Formats: sequence, structure tokens, C-alpha cells
Amino acid sequence: MGGRNGLSSPCLPRLPFLLFLLLLSVAVLTVAASENENKGSSLSASEAEAAVSRFREYLRINTSQPDPDYDAAVRFLRAQADDLGLESDVLEFVSGKPLLLLRWVGRIPSLPALLLNSHTDVVPTEPLKWAHPPFSAALDPATGNLYARGSQDMKCVGLQYLEAIRRLRAAGFAPDRTIYLSFVPDEEIGGNDGAGRLAASEKFQEMKVGVELDEGLASPGEEYRVFYGERSPWWLVIKARGAPGHGAKLYDGSAMENLMKSVEAVRRFRAAQFDLVKAGMKAEGEVVSVNLVYLKAGTPSPTGFVMNLQPSEAEVGLDIRVPPNANTEALERRIAEEWAPSSRNLTFEFKHKVSVHDMFGKPAITPADNSNPWWMLLEEAVKKANGKLGKPEIFPASTDARFFRERGIPAFGFSPMANTPILLHDHNEFLNKHEYLKGIEIYESIIKAFASYKGDAKDEESRAEL
Ligand SMILES: *[C@@H]1O[C@H](CO)[C@@H](O)[C@H](O)[C@H]1NC(C)=O
Ligand SMILES: *[C@@H]1O[C@H](CO)[C@@H](O)[C@H](O)[C@H]1NC(C)=O
Repeated sequence: MGGRNGLSSPCLPRLPFLLFLLLLSVAVLTVAASENENKGSSLSASEAEAAVSRFREYLRINTSQPDPDYDAAVRFLRAQADDLGLESDVLEFVSGKPLLLLRWVGRIPSLPALLLNSHTDVVPTEPLKWAHPPFSAALDPATGNLYARGSQDMKCVGLQYLEAIRRLRAAGFAPDRTIYLSFVPDEEIGGNDGAGRLAASEKFQEMKVGVELDEGLASPGEEYRVFYGERSPWWLVIKARGAPGHGAKLYDGSAMENLMKSVEAVRRFRAAQFDLVKAGMKAEGEVVSVNLVYLKAGTPSPTGFVMNLQPSEAEVGLDIRVPPNANTEALERRIAEEWAPSSRNLTFEFKHKVSVHDMFGKPAITPADNSNPWWMLLEEAVKKANGKLGKPEIFPASTDARFFRERGIPAFGFSPMANTPILLHDHNEFLNKHEYLKGIEIYESIIKAFASYKGDAKDEESRAEL
């Protein structure tokens, strides 16, 4: 606005003054550009550049499901580990699905270890709907945005762990606790052949893991999101049977009519849960979500479906997500009595049902309050690195962290991406390089705090005995 007034001013400035203005603006732009290169980071410009280029190299490896190039990812990551002087081991619980395990031995190996987990696979893309090819790791010079599948979910985190360790080693830091890094396959297709196998292995027992870090979600605001539990998937199929009949006839008890009554009940429940979120009374992860994922009915014909016949069978598939503290007995009763009552000739079956409890029968959550020293260390470490944590949340979907929480191991979901739209699984997934670099410093602070924590020795011993 000020500039426009200047232009309309009747007396134009003289040439020397214009030159002065020109020089001034060049100087200001130069300073701004160099700040933009390295916004408030303690990484030098060359360190930052090298870190971003390693990140891009990882992003360019096509680890897309359904046929991820795991070998290339493991080769790249192993070279990084060699460069850093970390011990590495490739575990192949399932053939063709390598899991890379790195180790930095602590000074007090009897202390339970820290596990930094990330998955190497990413979800498929529709390349034509992207502005840049999804495995090109295109860097927009104007904004610093790095476009790639996996930039948020979660190749960023995997390499940030390594970059943080690079800096800690360069600074001569020696961890008290042993630090493990696991790069696991298959998270995007359930994780059973990756983190699931690891958590259930003898090897894992030997590792004596005391705390685990895993993925979180980007946050559009200033605060990082952090997750202390997650909802359990219940995948439900409801089937209806009924007398078939002419399409013109009105009668009770058809499969479709019986099933639609259920669909109506499900939708009422869904709306009530969603209203709690919309009203700001509950967070997304705190309500039971239920979505209709398929409807199957009808009598096929060569041109589609027979139109004058009411079918004798119909079914619906529901994706239900249950928070760890939900009243599961009440929900099961609702399903049996309201959504799929046998009195309406309905049957139901769970295709997949994950317990909301851990192996010890307790809700599978990691306390995110002062009762948990790991939580206090995490909060403090993020603050120290000039980051802000939001209110701890329940992750709305599933991550690999569940395999560890299920075994009573404290686990936090955390991906340090603030000021970033949530684009996981979306087209044009990106992460700004400055956010990426900031995240390295956040992890540096967290790893330092966790690996130096001596803990309550008695507490640790009794846990080890369990
Ligand atoms: C990446 O791998 C997937 C198979 O998992 C394949 O369908 C896709 O075409 C590959 N993309 C590129 C750019 O090579
Ligand atoms: C359930 O099926 C039985 C046997 O076919 C039938 O007699 C009854 O009316 C049906 N009930 C409903 C509510 O559709």
C-alpha cells in the first residue's frame, strides 16, 4: 500500500536516491534469502544441504505397495548406518520383506533400550494426479517444499532419527542406554510381517526395549501432535437373509429391508459420534467411528442387475474404530441387538478385530502425564529444542506402535511436522525442508534425553524381571 502512494506522489525521487533504494533492497533480499536457507537452525548451511539431499535420495526409492523395492531401501539405509558407524543387521522374518535393525550400544547396556521405529514402505500413488512425479522428490525452490510419496508418512522420521544420531555422534555424545533403530516393512498393509514379527521375536526379547517412538501426524498449526494410544479396528460384516420376491410386491422381511434397518441404526450412531467431534466435545480419536465401506446385494444380469427381483441375500461391510477406553461390552451389545439382531434374520462376523487391551488386560495406552517419566522427558526435550507439543491424542487409525504397546512397552507416536497440512496418503504429499531440518534438532534433543535417562533403577529391574 505504501508503495502505491509513493508512485502517485507528484515529485519523483532523484536518481541517486533510486540507486540507494535499489542497493538497499538487494541487501535486504540477500539477508532474507540466507535466512530462508537456514531458518533458525543450528545446522550449518552445508550440513542442512547434505541432510536434505540424503532425504531426497531416500524419497526417490520406490517403496510403494504392493511391490516395494525393499532391497534398495535397505541398501541405502545400511550405507548410512555404515557411514555413521552403527551396527546393522538385516532380519528377514518373512522372505522378501527385510527389516533393518541398527544398534548404538550404550554405556550401561543393562538399562532397557530405546527403540526408534519407522516403516520403509509407502502407499500407492496416482502419478497423473500429482504436480510432480511422486518419486522425483521435487524441491520447489520458492517455498522449500519437498514433494514425494513418503515425505510425511514416514521416510522423514526414519532419516531424521539417523540425522540426529549423526549430529550426536559428531558432538561426541555417548548414550547410557542402547539405541536401536528399526526400519520395518509392510506397515501400510497391516504391519504383521514387519513390526508385528519383530515384536513377537526372540530377538526382541534380547533387545530389552524400555520405550518406543513411532509415527504421528502432521499438524497444520504451531504445535506438534503426539499420540499415546490408538483406536482398534473392528471390521464387521453384517449379512441379511430374507424371502425373495417380485420387485413390484410390498412385503416385510426381505433381505434388503432387514439390512437397511441396520444401516439406518448404524448411521444414527455414526452421526451422534460425529456430532461430539463437530461440537468440539471430543477429539477424533476419542469417539467410535463407523463407516460403511461396501454394500453387496442384487442378482447380476448380463447388463447389470435384475431389476424386478428382490434378492434373498444382502450384506454390508463396516470399518469401526474403537478408542482404548471405550465401553466395548456396550458396543458389542449394540451390534448384536441393534445392528445385527437375529430376530431380523441378520448375522454378523468380524473380519478383523483388534483388542483395545494389552496382553495384561489393561487399556493399551501409554500414560501421557506426570506418572510416566518418559512423557515428562519427551515434553521437556521438545521444549528445549524450541518446539511445542499439543495435547496428547489417541491416533485415529493404526500404526506399528500397537505391537509394542500391546506388550506393555511405553510408545509415543510423534512425527515432528508443524505448520504442515496433513497429506499422508493424499496426492502431492510434501514436507517443507525447513520443517524437516527442525525435526532433526527435535529428535537430537529427544534421543539425548531418553538415552541419558538412568531411571528408577528398582523400577527398571522389576520390569526386566517381568
Ligand atoms: C513404483 O512401484 C509400484 C509397484 O509397487 C509401481 O506400480 C509403480 O509404477 C512404480 N512407480 C515408478 C515411478 O516407478
Ligand atoms: C426371518 O425368517 C423366518 C424364516 O424364513 C421368517 O418366518 C421370519 O418372518 C423372518 N423375520 C423377519 C423379521 O424377517
